[in-house]
Amino acid sequence: MKQDMIVILDLGSHENTVLARAIRDLGVYSEIYPHDITAQELKALPNVKGVIINGGPNNVIDGVEIDVLPEIYEAGFPVMAAGHDKACCAVKLPQFGGDVEAIKAAVKSFVFETCKAEANWNMKNFVADQIELVRRQVGDRKVLLALSGGVDSSVVAALLLKAIGDKLVCVHVNHGLMRKGESEDVVEVFRNQLNANLIYVDATDRFLGKLEGVADPEQKRKIIGGEFIRVFEEEARKLDGIDFLGQGTIYPDIVESGTKTAKMVKSHHNVGGLPEDLQFELVEPLRQLFKDEVRACGLELGLPYDMVYRQPFPGPGLGVRCLGAITRDRLEAVRESDAILREEFKLAGLDKKVWQYFTIVPDFKSVGVRDNARSYDWPVIIRAVNTVDAMTATIETIDWPILQKITDRILKEVKNVNRVCYDMSPKPSATIEWE
Ligand code: XMP
Repeated sequence: MKQDMIVILDLGSHENTVLARAIRDLGVYSEIYPHDITAQELKALPNVKGVIINGGPNNVIDGVEIDVLPEIYEAGFPVMAAGHDKACCAVKLPQFGGDVEAIKAAVKSFVFETCKAEANWNMKNFVADQIELVRRQVGDRKVLLALSGGVDSSVVAALLLKAIGDKLVCVHVNHGLMRKGESEDVVEVFRNQLNANLIYVDATDRFLGKLEGVADPEQKRKIIGGEFIRVFEEEARKLDGIDFLGQGTIYPDIVESGTKTAKMVKSHHNVGGLPEDLQFELVEPLRQLFKDEVRACGLELGLPYDMVYRQPFPGPGLGVRCLGAITRDRLEAVRESDAILREEFKLAGLDKKVWQYFTIVPDFKSVGVRDNARSYDWPVIIRAVNTVDAMTATIETIDWPILQKITDRILKEVKNVNRVCYDMSPKPSATIEWE
């Protein structure tokens, strides 16, 4: 293995991720594991140089104070206890208080002098190590991956492809609610450029058929999510000899889904609840990475910049931006206006500045005038927001000339549209998406 590792054991601190990032900032790779890891499991991890037990206020589960297994101290690694005064070990530290520089200063000598770890964490070494680990895990068996075209699944696909080549089977389900050109890009990059074994399923008619006449937002989301699993499952059943399911799980997904010491924020399921009789072992090579690291990993693997820096896109896709019961003409208006917005934001350099931007087409019409005649058409609403964690968001201030150019183009180029509006609402009171 190419890189040394410091293992953080989660004993109820709020600061596990800050600590991991601080150690990675020192140039040493670090991973976070639950407090009850066994010595055998710890020893099986690659290149462990030392262990930091990270204690904190969440160290009581079901009324019982938790601790690491005593055998961890006998496992042969240097151990540091942070924010945890019960442990019988060499170095003790107070809680760090979230200050990355303070954390770095506090752990530096433990990492480099006590553990003798080398500062050899970089994406090249990470990729090389993960490729080796995937090869060890998978051998010459096969892995199935749902390749949505999102950043995480694309990076996993590129990594698995390097590791196991044609033993990776990717399935891209186009639910007909993708942005303009997106499914085509997935096929172009993965099948044509990277030679991936890619099954492309155009399920547009099937999804739009199921969604016909359905106006309730939650119902729409349920139908899209449920149908996605059914299509993927049907494809999986057609294939022989698949033992593994690749997943683009990343570290924030794990934290938000709840760790042993932290409550769930929201449940994440990358592929959704696949039926139990489809039993796969998981391959999740990005599970310890943060989002910016996933992007760096994608670039290291040679994926196109636009794919790696793609803005967030909800699973139900344009389906939640074509409000109410979806019709093909309005869906087309959302897709075309979104493409214009993206083009113009890129030209104006706003694509690097604004976190998320898209258009919405509501299910009501308004009166207008075109070619000296009355028109009765849909409006397009532009939304552009900035946020750190998507829990709250502010709107972006866009210069008038840019908005005017986008408006002119939408009115000229998009069929059945006679009005363009700009959504001024922050979150709260609005959410980022309209449905
Ligand atoms: P809201 O609308 O809740 O959105 O303010 C917050 C962020 O989450 C994205 N979003 C989703 N992402 N599946 C996803 O993967 C979904 O069902 C989904 N719904 C909303 C939204 O685009 C925004 O970035």
